[in-house]
Amino acid sequence: MIQPKADCSLCGLCKGRTNLVLPSGDLSSPVVLVGATPGANEDLQGAPFVGRAGKILNQAMEDVGLDRSKVMITNTVKCRPPENRDPEKEEMAACRQFLDSELAGRKVIIGLGKSALTDLLGYSGPMAPVVNTRQTVDILGEKITFIPTYHPMACVYQKVAREELRKTLRMVKEEFNL
Ligand code: URA
Repeated sequence: MIQPKADCSLCGLCKGRTNLVLPSGDLSSPVVLVGATPGANEDLQGAPFVGRAGKILNQAMEDVGLDRSKVMITNTVKCRPPENRDPEKEEMAACRQFLDSELAGRKVIIGLGKSALTDLLGYSGPMAPVVNTRQTVDILGEKITFIPTYHPMACVYQKVAREELRKTLRMVKEEFNL
């Protein structure tokens, strides 16, 4: 896995960074969850999904009996954007070499929300028609299954999103005996 240098300045997000937020969980899991961008807590702790979104993700995992330590969790970019805005195309492109190296050799990539979908599938349409479908992405010349689902923060006010996210997690838990 290629990691950015501690003083990485491949894009402007480095200006607001406290810590790089690198993948966590089982780094050799067949299943990887790709979120959007680190938030304030992630920036401070240097780990993905440790703040509010992380609590919601943890709850969804607990609901289906999937142990968080059995999957790998990462983001499209490794540094927190100002005001928690979405990552820009150029920022995702600058970080893509690291993401590709994290995703290579996996069996399934779960995209949590729109940024992962835009980055990996080049899709920026509505979520509903593609959630829990099986797509294919090319990662360093290898075809890997990609399942788009809702971002944990979308689950705060949307019961449907909560149910779909649980469905995704249940599906991979069963498929890979996690
Ligand atoms: N939201 C994300 O997409 N990723 C994180 O790491 C935290 C919040």
